[in-house]
Amino acid sequence: MSDDKIILTGIKPTGMPHIGNYLGVYKSLIELSQTHKTFAFIADLHALNLVHDPKIIKQHTYEAAAFILAMGLNTDNAILFRQSDVDAVYKLNTFLMNVTPKGLMNRAHSYKAMLEKNAASGDDPDNGVNMGLYTYPILMTADILLYNSDIVPVGSDQKQHVEFARDIAEYFNKTYGDLFKLPEPQIGKDIGLIPGLDGRKMSKSYDNTIPLFAPESELKKKIMRIITDSKLPEEPKNPDESTIYLLYRHFANDADTQNMRKLFEQGKIGYGDAKKMLFEKINSYLAGPREKYNYLMSHTDELDKILADGAVKARAVAEKTIERVKRAMLG
Ligand code: TRP
Repeated sequence: MSDDKIILTGIKPTGMPHIGNYLGVYKSLIELSQTHKTFAFIADLHALNLVHDPKIIKQHTYEAAAFILAMGLNTDNAILFRQSDVDAVYKLNTFLMNVTPKGLMNRAHSYKAMLEKNAASGDDPDNGVNMGLYTYPILMTADILLYNSDIVPVGSDQKQHVEFARDIAEYFNKTYGDLFKLPEPQIGKDIGLIPGLDGRKMSKSYDNTIPLFAPESELKKKIMRIITDSKLPEEPKNPDESTIYLLYRHFANDADTQNMRKLFEQGKIGYGDAKKMLFEKINSYLAGPREKYNYLMSHTDELDKILADGAVKARAVAEKTIERVKRAMLG
Protein backbone atom coordinates (compact mmCIF):
# COMPACT_ATOMS: atom_id res chain seq x y z
CA MET A 1 0.00 0.00 0.00
CA SER A 2 1.44 3.37 -0.91
CA ASP A 3 2.47 5.59 1.94
CA ASP A 4 0.28 8.54 1.08
CA LYS A 5 -2.95 6.62 1.67
CA ILE A 6 -5.07 7.94 4.51
CA ILE A 7 -6.26 5.35 7.02
CA LEU A 8 -9.38 5.81 9.14
CA THR A 9 -11.49 3.75 11.44
CA GLY A 10 -14.13 4.30 14.09
CA ILE A 11 -14.26 2.33 17.31
CA LYS A 12 -17.78 1.92 18.58
CA PRO A 13 -17.85 2.28 22.36
CA THR A 14 -19.58 -0.94 23.37
CA GLY A 15 -17.54 -2.19 26.31
CA MET A 16 -14.20 -3.87 26.59
CA PRO A 17 -12.92 -5.26 23.28
CA HIS A 18 -11.80 -8.88 23.18
CA ILE A 19 -8.76 -10.40 21.55
CA GLY A 20 -10.76 -11.24 18.41
CA ASN A 21 -11.58 -7.55 17.87
CA TYR A 22 -7.98 -6.60 18.46
CA LEU A 23 -6.44 -9.17 16.11
CA GLY A 24 -9.14 -8.68 13.48
CA VAL A 25 -8.99 -4.92 13.06
CA TYR A 26 -6.99 -2.85 15.50
CA LYS A 27 -3.64 -4.62 15.38
CA SER A 28 -3.31 -3.80 11.68
CA LEU A 29 -4.64 -0.28 12.25
CA ILE A 30 -1.92 0.34 14.82
CA GLU A 31 0.71 -1.06 12.46
CA LEU A 32 -0.52 1.05 9.53
CA SER A 33 -0.52 4.15 11.70
CA GLN A 34 3.25 3.94 11.98
CA THR A 35 3.69 4.70 8.29
CA HIS A 36 0.43 6.35 7.20
CA LYS A 37 -1.63 9.34 8.13
CA THR A 38 -4.24 7.81 10.43
CA PHE A 39 -7.49 8.92 11.99
CA ALA A 40 -8.94 6.80 14.79
CA PHE A 41 -12.01 7.99 16.61
CA ILE A 42 -14.41 6.75 19.22
CA ALA A 43 -17.76 6.55 17.45
CA ASP A 44 -19.93 7.72 20.33
CA LEU A 45 -22.64 9.11 18.04
CA HIS A 46 -23.03 5.64 16.59
CA ALA A 47 -23.80 4.23 20.01
CA LEU A 48 -26.79 6.56 20.44
CA ASN A 49 -29.29 4.55 18.45
CA LEU A 50 -29.03 1.80 21.05
CA VAL A 51 -27.64 3.26 24.26
CA HIS A 52 -29.71 6.00 25.86
CA ASP A 53 -27.72 6.36 29.06
CA PRO A 54 -25.05 9.09 28.76
CA LYS A 55 -23.06 7.68 31.68
CA ILE A 56 -22.66 4.37 29.90
CA ILE A 57 -21.63 6.00 26.62
CA LYS A 58 -19.09 8.15 28.41
CA GLN A 59 -17.63 5.20 30.32
CA HIS A 60 -17.42 3.06 27.18
CA THR A 61 -15.82 5.94 25.30
CA TYR A 62 -13.05 6.07 27.88
CA GLU A 63 -12.64 2.30 27.68
CA ALA A 64 -12.34 2.38 23.91
CA ALA A 65 -9.79 5.20 23.98
CA ALA A 66 -7.77 3.54 26.77
CA PHE A 67 -7.88 0.28 24.81
CA ILE A 68 -6.43 1.63 21.58
CA LEU A 69 -3.76 3.63 23.42
CA ALA A 70 -2.83 0.68 25.63
CA MET A 71 -2.41 -1.54 22.58
CA GLY A 72 0.10 0.92 21.18
CA LEU A 73 -1.59 3.58 19.05
CA ASN A 74 0.93 6.37 19.06
CA THR A 75 -0.69 9.79 19.00
CA ASP A 76 2.47 11.32 17.55
CA ASN A 77 1.53 9.46 14.37
CA ALA A 78 -2.21 9.08 14.63
CA ILE A 79 -5.06 11.45 15.42
CA LEU A 80 -7.29 10.00 18.14
CA PHE A 81 -10.50 11.84 18.93
CA ARG A 82 -14.11 11.56 19.95
CA GLN A 83 -16.49 11.58 16.96
CA SER A 84 -18.98 13.93 18.63
CA ASP A 85 -16.27 16.57 19.24
CA VAL A 86 -16.10 17.48 15.56
CA ASP A 87 -19.18 19.49 14.56
CA ALA A 88 -18.49 19.08 10.86
CA VAL A 89 -19.64 15.47 11.03
CA TYR A 90 -23.20 16.46 11.94
CA LYS A 91 -23.17 18.88 9.01
CA LEU A 92 -21.83 16.43 6.48
CA ASN A 93 -24.42 13.92 7.68
CA THR A 94 -27.17 16.43 6.82
CA PHE A 95 -25.69 17.16 3.40
CA LEU A 96 -25.22 13.49 2.52
CA MET A 97 -28.83 12.66 3.43
CA ASN A 98 -29.77 14.40 0.19
CA VAL A 99 -27.73 12.26 -2.14
CA THR A 100 -28.46 8.97 -0.41
CA PRO A 101 -31.29 6.88 -1.88
CA LYS A 102 -33.67 5.48 0.72
CA GLY A 103 -33.46 2.15 -1.07
CA LEU A 104 -29.78 1.88 -0.19
CA MET A 105 -30.62 2.13 3.50
CA ASN A 106 -33.32 -0.53 3.09
CA ARG A 107 -30.57 -2.94 2.06
CA ALA A 108 -28.37 -2.42 5.14
CA HIS A 109 -27.72 -5.72 6.95
CA SER A 110 -28.25 -4.28 10.42
CA TYR A 111 -31.62 -2.77 9.49
CA LYS A 112 -32.69 -5.93 7.66
CA ALA A 113 -31.76 -8.01 10.69
CA MET A 114 -34.19 -5.93 12.77
CA LEU A 115 -36.96 -6.41 10.20
CA GLU A 116 -36.40 -10.16 10.25
CA LYS A 117 -36.39 -10.26 14.02
CA ASN A 118 -39.67 -8.36 14.07
CA ALA A 119 -41.20 -10.65 11.43
CA ALA A 120 -40.18 -13.70 13.46
CA SER A 121 -41.84 -12.37 16.58
CA GLY A 122 -44.89 -11.11 14.69
CA ASP A 123 -44.18 -7.46 15.55
CA ASP A 124 -44.58 -4.40 13.36
CA PRO A 125 -41.66 -4.43 10.88
CA ASP A 126 -40.28 -1.14 12.18
CA ASN A 127 -40.62 -2.01 15.83
CA GLY A 128 -37.51 -0.78 17.67
CA VAL A 129 -36.05 0.90 14.58
CA ASN A 130 -35.20 4.54 15.18
CA MET A 131 -33.84 6.85 12.51
CA GLY A 132 -30.39 6.66 14.09
CA LEU A 133 -30.30 2.97 13.26
CA TYR A 134 -31.89 3.43 9.84
CA THR A 135 -29.49 6.18 8.76
CA TYR A 136 -26.46 4.71 10.56
CA PRO A 137 -24.62 4.13 7.27
CA ILE A 138 -24.98 7.81 6.30
CA LEU A 139 -23.29 9.01 9.50
CA MET A 140 -20.60 6.42 8.94
CA THR A 141 -20.15 7.73 5.40
CA ALA A 142 -19.79 11.23 6.82
CA ASP A 143 -17.00 9.95 9.10
CA ILE A 144 -15.18 8.35 6.24
CA LEU A 145 -15.50 11.15 3.68
CA LEU A 146 -14.87 14.02 6.09
CA TYR A 147 -11.23 13.00 6.54
CA ASN A 148 -10.55 12.04 2.91
CA SER A 149 -10.01 8.40 3.87
CA ASP A 150 -8.60 5.90 1.39
CA ILE A 151 -8.47 2.76 3.51
CA VAL A 152 -10.94 1.81 6.21
CA PRO A 153 -9.90 -1.19 8.34
CA VAL A 154 -13.06 -2.84 9.69
CA GLY A 155 -14.45 -6.21 10.71
CA SER A 156 -16.37 -8.13 8.06
CA ASP A 157 -19.68 -7.02 9.63
CA GLN A 158 -18.87 -3.43 8.62
CA LYS A 159 -17.80 -4.11 5.05
CA GLN A 160 -21.19 -3.28 3.58
CA HIS A 161 -21.21 0.07 5.36
CA VAL A 162 -17.88 1.04 3.82
CA GLU A 163 -19.19 -0.03 0.41
CA PHE A 164 -22.20 2.23 1.00
CA ALA A 165 -19.79 5.08 1.76
CA ARG A 166 -18.21 4.45 -1.60
CA ASP A 167 -21.62 4.41 -3.32
CA ILE A 168 -22.71 7.62 -1.61
CA ALA A 169 -19.43 9.33 -2.53
CA GLU A 170 -20.05 8.33 -6.15
CA TYR A 171 -23.62 9.68 -6.10
CA PHE A 172 -22.29 12.94 -4.71
CA ASN A 173 -19.45 13.19 -7.21
CA LYS A 174 -21.79 12.53 -10.15
CA THR A 175 -23.93 15.51 -9.24
CA TYR A 176 -21.44 17.94 -7.76
CA GLY A 177 -18.07 17.05 -9.30
CA ASP A 178 -15.27 14.86 -8.03
CA LEU A 179 -14.96 16.12 -4.51
CA PHE A 180 -14.66 12.83 -2.66
CA LYS A 181 -12.15 10.02 -2.95
CA LEU A 182 -13.68 6.56 -3.04
CA PRO A 183 -12.76 4.68 0.15
CA GLU A 184 -12.01 0.98 0.36
CA PRO A 185 -12.69 -1.39 3.23
CA GLN A 186 -9.78 -3.41 4.52
CA ILE A 187 -10.94 -6.63 6.12
CA GLY A 188 -8.55 -8.72 8.19
CA LYS A 189 -9.14 -11.81 6.04
CA ASP A 190 -5.59 -13.05 5.82
CA ILE A 191 -5.39 -13.60 9.55
CA GLY A 192 -7.96 -16.40 9.39
CA LEU A 193 -10.67 -17.19 11.88
CA ILE A 194 -10.04 -16.14 15.46
CA PRO A 195 -11.79 -18.85 17.43
CA GLY A 196 -13.40 -18.25 20.81
CA LEU A 197 -13.37 -20.57 23.83
CA ASP A 198 -15.89 -22.94 22.23
CA GLY A 199 -14.13 -23.05 18.83
CA ARG A 200 -16.70 -20.88 17.05
CA LYS A 201 -15.71 -17.41 15.84
CA MET A 202 -14.88 -15.26 18.87
CA SER A 203 -17.85 -12.99 19.36
CA LYS A 204 -19.68 -11.31 22.21
CA SER A 205 -22.91 -12.75 20.87
CA TYR A 206 -21.60 -16.31 21.46
CA ASP A 207 -20.30 -15.44 24.92
CA ASN A 208 -17.02 -17.16 24.07
CA THR A 209 -14.60 -14.25 24.19
CA ILE A 210 -11.28 -13.67 25.93
CA PRO A 211 -11.37 -10.07 27.16
CA LEU A 212 -8.15 -8.16 26.50
CA PHE A 213 -7.62 -6.67 29.92
CA ALA A 214 -9.03 -9.28 32.25
CA PRO A 215 -6.92 -9.71 35.39
CA GLU A 216 -4.30 -12.44 35.07
CA SER A 217 -6.25 -15.00 37.14
CA GLU A 218 -9.39 -14.54 35.04
CA LEU A 219 -7.39 -14.76 31.82
CA LYS A 220 -5.93 -18.06 33.00
CA LYS A 221 -9.33 -19.43 33.97
CA LYS A 222 -10.77 -18.57 30.57
CA ILE A 223 -7.90 -20.14 28.68
CA MET A 224 -8.04 -23.32 30.75
CA ARG A 225 -11.75 -23.54 29.80
CA ILE A 226 -11.08 -23.73 26.05
CA ILE A 227 -13.05 -26.65 24.67
CA THR A 228 -11.00 -29.44 23.08
CA ASP A 229 -11.66 -32.97 21.88
CA SER A 230 -10.61 -35.86 24.10
CA LYS A 231 -7.35 -36.87 22.40
CA LEU A 232 -4.64 -38.09 24.76
CA PRO A 233 -1.30 -36.27 25.05
CA GLU A 234 0.52 -38.93 23.01
CA GLU A 235 -1.97 -38.90 20.14
CA PRO A 236 -1.02 -36.79 17.08
CA LYS A 237 -3.30 -33.79 16.71
CA ASN A 238 -4.00 -31.41 13.84
CA PRO A 239 -2.89 -27.95 15.06
CA ASP A 240 -5.03 -26.22 12.45
CA GLU A 241 -8.14 -27.64 14.09
CA SER A 242 -7.13 -26.62 17.58
CA THR A 243 -8.37 -23.40 19.12
CA ILE A 244 -5.26 -23.40 21.32
CA TYR A 245 -2.85 -23.39 18.39
CA LEU A 246 -5.01 -21.02 16.29
CA LEU A 247 -4.78 -18.43 19.06
CA TYR A 248 -1.18 -19.17 20.03
CA ARG A 249 0.21 -18.36 16.57
CA HIS A 250 -1.01 -14.76 16.86
CA PHE A 251 0.98 -14.13 20.02
CA ALA A 252 4.09 -16.25 19.50
CA ASN A 253 7.04 -15.68 17.19
CA ASP A 254 7.64 -17.99 14.23
CA ALA A 255 9.99 -20.36 16.04
CA ASP A 256 7.62 -20.85 18.97
CA THR A 257 4.67 -21.28 16.60
CA GLN A 258 6.53 -23.97 14.66
CA ASN A 259 7.46 -25.63 17.93
CA MET A 260 3.84 -25.89 19.03
CA ARG A 261 2.84 -27.24 15.61
CA LYS A 262 5.39 -30.03 15.98
CA LEU A 263 4.35 -30.86 19.52
CA PHE A 264 0.76 -31.24 18.32
CA GLU A 265 1.58 -33.21 15.18
CA GLN A 266 3.95 -35.58 16.93
CA GLY A 267 1.72 -36.22 19.91
CA LYS A 268 4.17 -34.71 22.35
CA ILE A 269 1.83 -32.47 24.26
CA GLY A 270 -1.52 -32.70 26.02
CA TYR A 271 -4.16 -30.01 25.84
CA GLY A 272 -3.61 -28.95 29.47
CA ASP A 273 0.04 -28.16 28.87
CA ALA A 274 -0.71 -26.49 25.55
CA LYS A 275 -3.22 -24.26 27.30
CA LYS A 276 -0.58 -23.29 29.85
CA MET A 277 1.78 -22.34 27.01
CA LEU A 278 -0.98 -20.28 25.44
CA PHE A 279 -1.72 -18.54 28.72
CA GLU A 280 1.95 -17.66 29.22
CA LYS A 281 2.22 -16.16 25.74
CA ILE A 282 -0.99 -14.15 25.87
CA ASN A 283 -0.29 -13.01 29.37
CA SER A 284 3.18 -11.74 28.59
CA TYR A 285 1.88 -10.04 25.43
CA LEU A 286 -0.90 -8.31 27.36
CA ALA A 287 0.79 -7.56 30.68
CA GLY A 288 2.14 -4.18 29.57
CA PRO A 289 -1.04 -3.07 27.78
CA ARG A 290 -3.14 -4.21 30.77
CA GLU A 291 -1.12 -2.02 33.07
CA LYS A 292 -1.38 0.94 30.71
CA TYR A 293 -5.13 0.39 30.30
CA ASN A 294 -5.69 0.31 34.06
CA TYR A 295 -3.55 3.40 34.49
CA LEU A 296 -5.51 5.36 31.87
CA MET A 297 -8.86 4.23 33.25
CA SER A 298 -7.90 5.64 36.61
CA HIS A 299 -6.59 8.86 35.01
CA THR A 300 -9.44 9.79 32.71
CA ASP A 301 -8.31 13.42 32.83
CA GLU A 302 -5.34 12.30 30.74
CA LEU A 303 -7.70 10.63 28.28
CA ASP A 304 -9.75 13.82 28.08
CA LYS A 305 -6.60 15.75 27.25
CA ILE A 306 -5.50 13.29 24.55
CA LEU A 307 -8.98 13.29 22.98
CA ALA A 308 -9.18 17.08 23.11
CA ASP A 309 -5.80 17.44 21.38
CA GLY A 310 -6.92 14.96 18.74
CA ALA A 311 -10.17 16.85 18.19
CA VAL A 312 -8.26 20.07 17.41
CA LYS A 313 -6.29 18.30 14.70
CA ALA A 314 -9.32 16.45 13.33
CA ARG A 315 -11.38 19.66 13.18
CA ALA A 316 -8.75 21.38 11.07
CA VAL A 317 -9.13 18.70 8.37
CA ALA A 318 -12.90 18.37 8.73
CA GLU A 319 -13.59 22.09 8.46
CA LYS A 320 -11.88 22.22 5.07
CA THR A 321 -13.98 19.38 3.73
CA ILE A 322 -17.23 20.84 4.99
CA GLU A 323 -16.47 24.22 3.42
CA ARG A 324 -15.90 22.55 0.05
CA VAL A 325 -19.11 20.52 0.34
CA LYS A 326 -21.11 23.57 1.37
CA ARG A 327 -19.83 25.53 -1.61
CA ALA A 328 -20.46 22.63 -3.97
CA MET A 329 -24.03 22.07 -2.82
CA LEU A 330 -25.22 25.53 -1.86
CA GLY A 331 -23.08 27.79 -4.03
N1 TRP B 1 -19.86 1.16 12.66
C1 TRP B 1 -18.56 0.80 13.14
C2 TRP B 1 -18.72 -0.41 14.08
O1 TRP B 1 -19.81 -0.69 14.52
C3 TRP B 1 -17.88 1.93 13.85
C4 TRP B 1 -17.68 3.09 12.94
C5 TRP B 1 -18.34 4.29 12.98
C6 TRP B 1 -16.77 3.16 11.85
N2 TRP B 1 -17.89 5.10 11.99
C7 TRP B 1 -16.93 4.45 11.28
C8 TRP B 1 -15.84 2.26 11.33
C9 TRP B 1 -16.18 4.84 10.16
C10 TRP B 1 -15.09 2.67 10.22
C11 TRP B 1 -15.27 3.94 9.64
O2 TRP B 1 -17.75 -1.04 14.39
